[in-house]
Amino acid sequence: GAIIVLAIIVAYLFGSLSSAVIICKLFRLPDPRFNGSNNPGATNVYRIGGKIPALLTLTFDVLKGMLPVWGSYFLGIPPLFLGVVAVAACLGHIFPLYFQFRGGKAVATALGTMFPVAWEMALLLIATWLLVFRVSKVSSIAALITVTLAPFYAYWIKPQYTVPTIMISILIIWRHQANISRLRHGNEERTRRRS
Ligand code: G3P
Repeated sequence: GAIIVLAIIVAYLFGSLSSAVIICKLFRLPDPRFNGSNNPGATNVYRIGGKIPALLTLTFDVLKGMLPVWGSYFLGIPPLFLGVVAVAACLGHIFPLYFQFRGGKAVATALGTMFPVAWEMALLLIATWLLVFRVSKVSSIAALITVTLAPFYAYWIKPQYTVPTIMISILIIWRHQANISRLRHGNEERTRRRS
């Protein structure tokens, strides 16, 4: 019992490390929470600072989702709770303890949580995102379509993770409210570097 609670807390604390804010600080770029789309994520870091800082942000946001689930898996925590650990990492990213609870949308972190337990699903999600992005050129469209398909992929490949996948998909869609409203009004911009 105690080890599960600890794993959930550790996952939340890992998730709370806002890679976008830290990387932008290191690269002396403007704070992604107050520039571009005001979202601390790899997409917005790309807008603000280009490829290298964006790739670093993506890598660390994926890792902070991956490591707690991996650790929990090796500790023998059962699948149901691995799902809870994954949700906790995403909640950390969305409501980061160390960054005034101003977090991101958890797309990269959610992907990271899938690797240790469902790598086939992670690869399929990446392929889906890349395909939709190629066609749409809009990061939010790629994310929204990918997370909408994710529960179906889970049900198909790893049915034991369908419920946590649905929870994470709902969280991610809910965090895209502003994007959805811009998409509906036709003013969501193509994702490109701005500076
Ligand atoms: O992963 C976040 C992406 O889907 C949207 O980011 O900065 O365009 O709101 P942004």
